[in-house]
Amino acid sequence: MSTSTLSSSEEMLSEAQRILRLNDKGSYTVPTHGLYPFQWNWDSCLTALGQASFDESRAWQEIESLVAHQWEDGMVPHIVFHVFDDGYFPGPAVWGTGRATPTSGITQPPVMGLVIEQLWNRGSQSDALKGRCRQLVNAANRWHAWFYACRDPQDTGLVALLHPWESGRDNSCDWDTALAAVPADHVTPYTRRDTQHVDSSQRPTKFEYDRYIALVELFRACHWDNTKLHDASPFQVVDPGFNAILIHSDQALARLAAAIGEVAISEMAEARASRALQAMDTLWSADKGQYVAFDRIKKRPVDSASIGGLLPVLVLPEGHPNQSQVCQRIGQILDRAPYGVASHDPDDTRFDSKRYWRGPSWLVVNYLLIKGLTQNAQPELAERIRQASLRSIAKSGCAEYYDPYTAEPLGGKTFTWTAAMVIEFLRDVR
Ligand code: SER
Repeated sequence: MSTSTLSSSEEMLSEAQRILRLNDKGSYTVPTHGLYPFQWNWDSCLTALGQASFDESRAWQEIESLVAHQWEDGMVPHIVFHVFDDGYFPGPAVWGTGRATPTSGITQPPVMGLVIEQLWNRGSQSDALKGRCRQLVNAANRWHAWFYACRDPQDTGLVALLHPWESGRDNSCDWDTALAAVPADHVTPYTRRDTQHVDSSQRPTKFEYDRYIALVELFRACHWDNTKLHDASPFQVVDPGFNAILIHSDQALARLAAAIGEVAISEMAEARASRALQAMDTLWSADKGQYVAFDRIKKRPVDSASIGGLLPVLVLPEGHPNQSQVCQRIGQILDRAPYGVASHDPDDTRFDSKRYWRGPSWLVVNYLLIKGLTQNAQPELAERIRQASLRSIAKSGCAEYYDPYTAEPLGGKTFTWTAAMVIEFLRDVR
């Protein structure tokens, strides 16, 4: 169904639900069969939003099955390798994290907090679910505290990514300079599996992959000790998008924890969020009219205008001086691309409308932008993004990502989190 036309909301909804069930492994959902055969952190959390529309308990379980593999230090890993599958590289042996159920050793954008607030607010709020919610609130609090303890050792208020995969935006142009400085001369020879599933022109390059693996091998040599990894890493980048998601999730966690009587957690989350929000302004680029990443190794801002620098719309308080410029930038990018917000500045020479995070439009990003714009009293712009996203689905089905100019479906097909976002975008018409 991935390239055929879905002509009505009913058809889109039914296709989205079919995909959520198709990729459901019982207690967790794979992003798509073949390319990604395990449980991915932010995929799973966002998937729960779609599952909740037809099975509330299953939605909570999706996140519980991830959190069951939270590390003792608080980190929630980016992949849980529940069942071995050799169709993916790097598998458990390369990570070598030594967990009973193997996991990767890095993390991913912490959307869990914002998702569990939605699940709770929209759900039945039964006593049984309150206990389950409490467990996840505690887990999210430990995870968020871990970020500031282990990824902000200088106490700047903002956390660093130690691997591009942690951003969720693997090959964003934002990481080019920092990644190029990662030594990769001694990487153990490997065979990529992703390019056996998807055309290599839509995936990261070999140059990037060599460095992705070099970082994994370095962290493995440090025994995945999160008290040491930050300072040992040759890649330390502060991403405004990632930090905005963390702040937004902490704000959601503060409200949710208060609602279920976890006052101490609510106060901790609120304190983390307000401190980080103040620090976010250090990432503002007046030149670009948006936020930009900061390279902690080179000690300088990254000259790159990507969607990561617009995601702070999620957390800009009312009346913030940067609000109108950020909204204007989002509108300008949307003016150029009828099928969703391009993941990178179309005027940058590095922009590539088909290569993963260097230009294509992603429904999960569109979803986060819509949330931010709605909070920032920009309902018309939010609605334009929603319509553009639905146009992509109608034309091309639930792909991993889309060419923002043509809606050509790219990457994996029958893709779980895209399906979940379709259900979100159709909530108003159900
Ligand atoms: N997104 C990465 C991959 O493509 C891993 O998180 O394998």
